[in-house]
Amino acid sequence: MAPTVPWPVLIARLSSWLVAGGAVLWSTVARRETGVVPVLVRLGPTFVKGGQLLSTRGDLLPPAFCARLARLTDRMEPMSAADVRRALATAYRGGRAWPFAEFDYTAVASGSIAGVYRARLRNGRPVAVKVRRPGLERLMLADFRLLGLMAGLGEHMPGLRGLPARRMIDQIGPAVLGQLDLAREAVMLERLRGNLGSMVRIPATVPAAAGEGVLVMEFLDELERFGPATFTAEQRRTIVRQILHAVYQMLFIDGLVHCDMHPGNLYLRPTGEVVLLDAGFVVELTPKVRKLFAQFFVNMALGRGEVCADIVLRSASSVPAGADLSAFRRELGQLVRDNHGRLAGQFRLAPFAARLFDLQRRHRITADPEFVFPLLSLLVLEGMINDFDVDVDFQKESIPTLFEALRS
Ligand SMILES: Nc1ncnc2c1ncn2[C@@H]1O[C@H](COP(=O)(O)OP(=O)(O)O)[C@@H](O)[C@H]1O
Ligand SMILES: [Mg+2]
Repeated sequence: MAPTVPWPVLIARLSSWLVAGGAVLWSTVARRETGVVPVLVRLGPTFVKGGQLLSTRGDLLPPAFCARLARLTDRMEPMSAADVRRALATAYRGGRAWPFAEFDYTAVASGSIAGVYRARLRNGRPVAVKVRRPGLERLMLADFRLLGLMAGLGEHMPGLRGLPARRMIDQIGPAVLGQLDLAREAVMLERLRGNLGSMVRIPATVPAAAGEGVLVMEFLDELERFGPATFTAEQRRTIVRQILHAVYQMLFIDGLVHCDMHPGNLYLRPTGEVVLLDAGFVVELTPKVRKLFAQFFVNMALGRGEVCADIVLRSASSVPAGADLSAFRRELGQLVRDNHGRLAGQFRLAPFAARLFDLQRRHRITADPEFVFPLLSLLVLEGMINDFDVDVDFQKESIPTLFEALRS
């Protein structure tokens, strides 16, 4: 998967793992605090991002563990001005013109992989500049190489054999490493904007000003946290509808899905305009999966549980040889029927997904990330929309888009 990483880098990285592990062990003994979260934070962005993604994989890991991982936050200390300058110097080296008339080195926001800064182009246009932290690429590639080696060893050790370590790494690796690539992120942002621009506002990129590890986009001001705030009931209904239609368009028609629609990436402007940011985690569904996704939703709405079970099996990335498929079908059928009875506006995805994942985990049927990540993007959104307190019928709103998808 990853390009080769030199041995000295691997060894250096392994020693920092040990130091981080030792420090956490020490604080555990000294302060009697334990927990997986501080260990992951100490280990750096690979583990923070990886932990966040794994927190959503109820089909692979027990729910209590997922809940602990979900507490990982991505907000970090800002980069030092020297680091920002270093990253920018690399991006605009080799005779490339410096595109900014002004650059504010105080971060607007800082995540584990990049920081966002405010600047002004030479033509006076205000822009948001997303700058990748310097030196991360080497470090994160080394982490995944080491994790791969360890998972390989683990598979030969008694007691560890049953763990899905290898599968977990293969499944989250591409999503985590993909976030390092800001050129890809810029392309994804533009593609999303092309697809969804009439429903939600997505910042336009400025490719001419971009550089290696630097993404430049239009600055959108007055971003307010997503919440009902001061909107009238009518405005709230419009907002929620717009978001839902954008989501259904991504899932069922375009197959290009923003999988990270949490409140740090979805904002409202005072006018009620919905703003979607951060295309760092966008999944492109294959036509096959997109179709399966639409069929799953339609059949769920129709209460056809066994058909839904077949769809999950067809989309699974691994089904063990001895799996009791008829039991799986029966139980999933039951789950769908249970929810079918209370469809009208009362369906809640979160408990449904929790039961679906529990079922998959018990039968050791691993979902394909292409299938599961988009589903999870809906979960976050559902929570936010419920906070909005709008009595919107998810199922009903999806039907026109679903029909369009299945007709094509
Ligand atoms: N185009 C923009 N205009 C204004 N603010 C922005 C813009 N892009 C990002 N931001 C701000 O920076 C924050 C982090 O940006 P984001 O792309 O989500 O980075 P990360 O990958 O670290 O989550 C956003 O939550 C928002 O507050
Ligand atoms: Mg973000």
